[in-house]
Amino acid sequence: MSALLDVRGLRVRFDTPGGTVHAVNDVSYTLADGETLGVVGESGSGKSVHVLAMLGLIPRPPGRIEAGEVIFAGRDLLRLSEAELRDVRGGEIGIIFQDPMTALNPVLTVGRQIAEPLMRHRGLSRARAWARAAELLELVGIADPGRRLAQYPHQFSGGMRQRVMIAIAIACDPKLLIADEPTTALDVTVQAQILRLVRDLKARMGMSVIWITHDMGVVAGIADAVQVMYGGRIVERGPVRAIFKDPRNAYTWGLLRALPDHGRRSHRRLHQIEGQPPDLTLPPEGDPFAPRNPFATPRCFTETPPLVPAADAAPGHLVAAWYDLPRLLAEREGAR
Ligand SMILES: Nc1ncnc2c1ncn2[C@@H]1O[C@H](COP(=O)(O)OP(=O)(O)O)[C@@H](O)[C@H]1O
Ligand SMILES: [Mg+2]
Repeated sequence: MSALLDVRGLRVRFDTPGGTVHAVNDVSYTLADGETLGVVGESGSGKSVHVLAMLGLIPRPPGRIEAGEVIFAGRDLLRLSEAELRDVRGGEIGIIFQDPMTALNPVLTVGRQIAEPLMRHRGLSRARAWARAAELLELVGIADPGRRLAQYPHQFSGGMRQRVMIAIAIACDPKLLIADEPTTALDVTVQAQILRLVRDLKARMGMSVIWITHDMGVVAGIADAVQVMYGGRIVERGPVRAIFKDPRNAYTWGLLRALPDHGRRSHRRLHQIEGQPPDLTLPPEGDPFAPRNPFATPRCFTETPPLVPAADAAPGHLVAAWYDLPRLLAEREGAR
C-alpha cells in the first residue's frame, strides 16, 4: 500500500489573551491508500485542529500553522491557494462534521446541497447532478429519494441528516473521507447504523478514511489502525488489534480501561482517568501525560519521548513513552 497522505511535523498554535495555545505539536503520520485510521483522544487533544489545519480551515488569527507539510496525493496542502483548497474540500477529500445542523444549510433543499458539489467539482449539468443526488440518497439508505431531495434539513431526523452529510461528502467519489466525531450526538442504535453504512461505502468505493472520535469502542468497530492523541501529540499508533491487546502508552491503556465492557464481569466498574488534561498554554516539556500517569518515571517529567517503533511489537506499532508498560503491568499483576 502506498501513502495517500503524509503529514510531517505539523505544528499549530493559537495566540489568545491567555497565552499561546500549543494545540498540535509535531504531528507526523502516514495514511495508506484504502486505510481507515481511527484518531482517538479526550476533548482538547488536538484531533479536530490537526485536520482543520490540513484543510485550510483554521481561523487566522488567532490560529497559525507554525510548521509542517501535509502531502496529499503528491501535493502539499499547506502550500495551496484558498481556491485550490476549496477544490480539494468536497472534491478529493470528503468531510463530515459532528453537527449536521450547522454543516447543512437550513434554507436550501437537501437535493440542492448534494447536487451543488457535483456541479462545482465534477462539472455535471443541473439535471445530471440531481439524478446523481437521488442515487446518492439511496446509497446512504434514505428511502423515497425523489421526494426527500425537495425537503429541507429540519424535515430529517438527526440520523437521517447525518446520512445526508455522508451523501454530500462522498458525492464526488473522494480519495479520502474525514469524519470528525460524526456520531457523537446520535443515540447508540443510530450510531451503529451510521458506522455500518460508512464501512459498506468504504468497501464499495475503496476510499481512505480518517475517523475522529473520543470513543475507543467506535474505533474498534471501524478502523484498521488507531492513533491516540494527547496534548496535541500522537502518543501511540498501531494496528487496531495491537492497540487493544498490547497497548504501550499508559494513556491508551487508561482509555481501554474506561471502555464499558472491559474486564471480567466480577468488577465491571468504569475506570476514569484521574486528573486534568494538560494546560496547552505552557510550553510543552516532558511527557504531557506524566502528571496523570501512575507509571511515570522521573525522565517523563523532563524530556518529551519521541514516537518510535515499540519493542517486540506488531509491525507499524509506534509509541511515545520512556517506560516499559507491559513489564510494569506484569509486575503489578505479580504484586496482587
Ligand atoms: N479558535 C481557537 N482559539 C483558541 N484555541 C483553540 C481554538 N480552536 C481550538 N483551540 C484549542 O486547541 C486545542 C485542541 O483543540 P481541538 O483540536 O478542538 O481538540 P479535540 O478535537 O481533540 O477535542 C484545545 O486546547 C482548544 O482549546
Ligand atoms: Mg474535536
